[in-house]
Formats: sequence, C-alpha cells, structure tokens
Amino acid sequence: MKQTLFTIEHTRQLTADTYEMVLSGDTSAITAPGQFVDIALPLRFLRRPVSVANWAKNELLLIVRVAGEGTRELVRSVPGTELDILSGLGNGFDLESCTETPILIGGGVGAAPLFGLAGRMRQRGVTPTVALGFRTAEDAFYLEEFTGLGCRLFIATEDGSLGTKGFVTDLVRAVPECTDAFVCGPTPMLKAVRALPQLKNGQYSFEARMACGFGACVGCTIKTKSGPRRVCKDGPVFHKEEIEW
Ligand SMILES: Cc1cc2nc3c(=O)[nH]c(=O)nc-3n(C[C@H](O)[C@H](O)[C@H](O)COP(=O)(O)OP(=O)(O)OC[C@H]3O[C@@H](n4cnc5c(N)ncnc54)[C@H](O)[C@@H]3O)c2cc1C
Ligand code: FES
Repeated sequence: MKQTLFTIEHTRQLTADTYEMVLSGDTSAITAPGQFVDIALPLRFLRRPVSVANWAKNELLLIVRVAGEGTRELVRSVPGTELDILSGLGNGFDLESCTETPILIGGGVGAAPLFGLAGRMRQRGVTPTVALGFRTAEDAFYLEEFTGLGCRLFIATEDGSLGTKGFVTDLVRAVPECTDAFVCGPTPMLKAVRALPQLKNGQYSFEARMACGFGACVGCTIKTKSGPRRVCKDGPVFHKEEIEW
C-alpha cells in the first residue's frame, strides 16, 4: 500500500452518470487488475474506494459512477486537482490460474476493473470473451475500448435497447465453451452468475462499505468457508469455492 498525491489529468463523461478519469502519479504499488484505490476527498471523513480500471507507469485510469455526494464531487474536480490516494489495495484477480477460454462478466460500473484485466490477458496471448450487462443502451460504456483490445464482446440490456434483451447470465449460456469466469458487479448479479452450472471456476469481486480500506477495522467482512474475511484486504476478489453464498 502506498499513500501519494495523484493529479487529475482529464475527465470524460461516458454516460449520464459515469465518467472516465485519468490521473498521473506513482502507480508502483499496483500489482494486479481488480485492485482498488481509496481516495480522500476534502471535508469527507471516509475515503471512497474505486477499482483500478487500468494503469501504466505513472498513469491511473478510473471509471466512476456518481452514486452520492462524494463521487459527484470527485468527477467535478477540475484537471490539475491533486488527490490524496491510497493505492495497491486488495488482492486483485489471479491470472496464473486462467485457462484459454476465460469469460469476463460485468454489471454496470463493474465493467471497470475488467478492462485492465482484459488488457493483461491479451498481453499473455489469451483472447477473453467479455459479457457486459447494462440497464439500457444509454448506460453502456467502453464497448469500443473492449473490442479495441481484441476481446469477443457480448452485451445485454434489461430493456433490449442494445444487444440481447435480458441479463448477463443469458449471455454466458450462449458461450458454453467458456467455463472460467472473472466477475464484477452488484451482489445479486454475482449470485446469479455463480449459480450457472457451466462455470467451473470463478473469481468474484465483491463490494462492501469500507472504513479504513486496508484491513485495520474489520468493517468490511463477508462470510467465507474459512470464516469472516475482509473485502478490502483479503479481497475484493474471492474464488467461487471459498464464498459462503
Ligand atoms: C472495492 C470497491 C471497488 C469499487 N469500485 C468502483 C468503481 O470502479 N467505480 C465506481 O463508480 N464505484 C466503485 N465502488 C463504489 C464506490 O466506492 C461508491 O459508489 C462510493 O464510495 C460512493 O460514495 P458517495 O459519497 O458518492 O456516495 P454515498 O452513498 O454518499 O457514500 C456514503 C458512504 O458510503 C460509502 N459507500 C457508498 N456506496 C458504497 C459502495 N458501493 N461500496 C463501498 N462504499 C460505499 C462511501 O464510501 C461513503 O463512506 C467500489 C467500491 C468498492 C468497495
Ligand atoms: S474497511 Fe477496514 S478492514 Fe476493511
């Protein structure tokens, strides 16, 4: 974990409530896709956890959906603003156990960490299938970015305004050859995906309300087969078999 100042370089609106943010700063503590950063905001007691969408030397990409006052303030911060950020938090996705036919499954802003994950898989010569679910076409983002990486991309929207009408689970069933899942999204989606018998292996990224963000307060625990585990420190990514669903 490292605490440093990052500078906002630019912010781009992707949908009505979702923004891409590029920051410059020391990214040396980030070691795996699926890790997160914890951002201090002026006059707010608790930091805001946000997944690393991608990173390079001295460059950090975040995708932020406005959920409340803190994230609204964050996306409104002008370029040049310095942010106090804890980086290199959490375990991230384990790429070592990845097979040749992974499927990356994201719901809403859960697509964010899957982008960095897809890029790392491509660097290893693996072409991931990516299945993303959004409420409507207007909520969809980063489609060109995923296909630009060379991923096989499938989209589902609840109202059918883009891609398949339905949920990401419907997309997964359409690619039975994919049995190795990397999943990020709201908990009901994680549970629905986990119930698909086709998926033999799975790594699931969980969200929890966080206080310290680095393992000190046990405020973010979830139940696992080996007892309570901290989402911020032992996760946010957990293997399918260790989770008490
Ligand atoms: C590991 C992790 C990764 C995340 N990655 C992303 C991401 O890539 N992009 C993104 O847009 N959002 C992400 N979130 C959710 C994001 O942290 C919350 O939307 C944000 O903290 C809300 O803050 P707020 O002040 O706007 O909302 P408020 O509802 O006003 O927040 C009030 C308090 O609740 C906490 N809180 C609210 N919602 C959440 C939540 N879902 N998870 C954790 N704490 C919450 C806030 O940190 C704050 O302390 C992630 C959360 C976690 C735990
Ligand atoms: S938020 Fe403090 S232990 Fe996870």
